[in-house]
Amino acid sequence: HGLDPDRIICGVGSDEVLQFVVQTFAGPGDQIITTEHGFSMYPILARMVGATPVTVPEDMRRVDVDAILAAVTDRTRVVFIANPANPTGTMLTADELQRLIDGLPPQVLFVHDGAYTEFADGFDGGASLVDRHPNVIMTRTFSKAYGLGGLRIGWGYAAREVIDVLNRIRQPFNLSNAQMDAAQAAVLDREFTDRCIALNARMRDRMRQSLVQMGIGCDESFANFVLARFDSPDTAAAADAALRADGILVRRVGGYGLPDALRITVGDEDAVTRVLDCLGNFMQGRAQ
Ligand SMILES: Cc1ncc(COP(=O)(O)O)c(C=O)c1O
Repeated sequence: HGLDPDRIICGVGSDEVLQFVVQTFAGPGDQIITTEHGFSMYPILARMVGATPVTVPEDMRRVDVDAILAAVTDRTRVVFIANPANPTGTMLTADELQRLIDGLPPQVLFVHDGAYTEFADGFDGGASLVDRHPNVIMTRTFSKAYGLGGLRIGWGYAAREVIDVLNRIRQPFNLSNAQMDAAQAAVLDREFTDRCIALNARMRDRMRQSLVQMGIGCDESFANFVLARFDSPDTAAAADAALRADGILVRRVGGYGLPDALRITVGDEDAVTRVLDCLGNFMQGRAQ
């Protein structure tokens, strides 16, 4: 990635880096801003250190910069967003991101969670933002594009001063040699990763187009899943049951404030065909 190794911290999954952030920068009486459909770990991490999670509305399943800025108080310590976001798959533009950072007081740490960076074509995951702003940390993971979720390898990149304080609470041997070796092999195998990312982009387009044609709502996704929106929570539950009966497991996302939706991972050609065939039959059955 062409980054300064002294400004990188590794974690047992990027979750551990997020945990270091809250442990270091927030505590009782402090506020941590997250967004309406944001990643479920953010409010959990806030509570873990006794801070108060403040959840702000999104605008049609996209992070709303103005809502975040309006929620900042003198007790705000950290702002979390995932970009691309989970489970919506949506993404802020570079201008929106810049406006958010420019609007934050310098003592608020902005966490740009880049778990899905690799799937957003040409995006640096926020590295250049970190280089311009000492109050921004980018987190990244081997759990998504590299397919190594079970191995638990993540990392963060920030100003030296931020990395230095995070390192003070990191256990010295948090990652094993096996984890580090696997990460190194994965990151060096560019050809394989590029192939996976290109396939994901093609299959993601196909899924979205087909879902929309079937009358299922689907925003443009910049991640490795799409969010399929049905006309009601009951329909989403019935679609989930139909998929399950065909041996296909997707994610119900009622806990994310999206009870009428299912998050469906983008698979390879055969997997995507199976999902679309099943949902096509399901929607046809309902229309009759
Ligand atoms: C937005 C986001 N951030 C962070 C993570 C944590 O990933 P890991 O701890 O496996 O690196 C996930 C995993 O689902 C995620 O969706």
